[in-house]
Amino acid sequence: SNNMMADVEKILFSEEQLTSRIKELGEAITRDYAGKEILMIGVLRGAVIFMADLARAIKLPVAIDFMAVSSYGSSTSSSGVVRILKDLDEDVENKHVIIVEDIIDSGLTLNYLMDNLWSRKPASIKICTLLNKPDRRKVEVPIAYNGFTIPDYFVVGYGLDFAEKYRNFPFIGVLKPEAYEG
Ligand code: PRP
Ligand code: MN
Ligand code: MG
Repeated sequence: SNNMMADVEKILFSEEQLTSRIKELGEAITRDYAGKEILMIGVLRGAVIFMADLARAIKLPVAIDFMAVSSYGSSTSSSGVVRILKDLDEDVENKHVIIVEDIIDSGLTLNYLMDNLWSRKPASIKICTLLNKPDRRKVEVPIAYNGFTIPDYFVVGYGLDFAEKYRNFPFIGVLKPEAYEG
């Protein structure tokens, strides 16, 4: 159907709720990083919309860069091995890095990225995620900034997709089961 809302069971976080929470995250980061320059690293593709709004909520110099990673087939769920599809354009040595994610589920993506980025000798690394789904965690990752902790719902919008759909919703919604089953 052309009506994308037809697949939405309910709105979990409205555009206004997202704006308000991101303003708070931006203020916290602005306080914590006073006098420092931030390098934000967004994890393609889900993080891009959150990152665009978060960067503008931070009142300090913010450089941005991106990585794209992909799972190594079915072994990934246990091994946590991911493949870098697109690496950073900038050197992170001595930089204050904030990794930006839309959601943390198993934690495997960020666990890998933290190890990978620490080996490049940044001054610091912190994680900022819009959503945290702890029920699905397989490996613990240290989250410095968390927008919202959510139950194990099938969420889409504001960057999050199902089969590349719904990323452009301005809100976070819960998908109707019929939209992803069968
Ligand atoms: C999703 C999400 C996170 C990751 C979280 O990305 O955007 O990057 O999975 O899962 P994890 O904690 O279990 O590793 P996805 O692989 O769907 O790619 P996308 O961002 O391009 O949608
Ligand atoms: Mn992602
Ligand atoms: Mg995805």
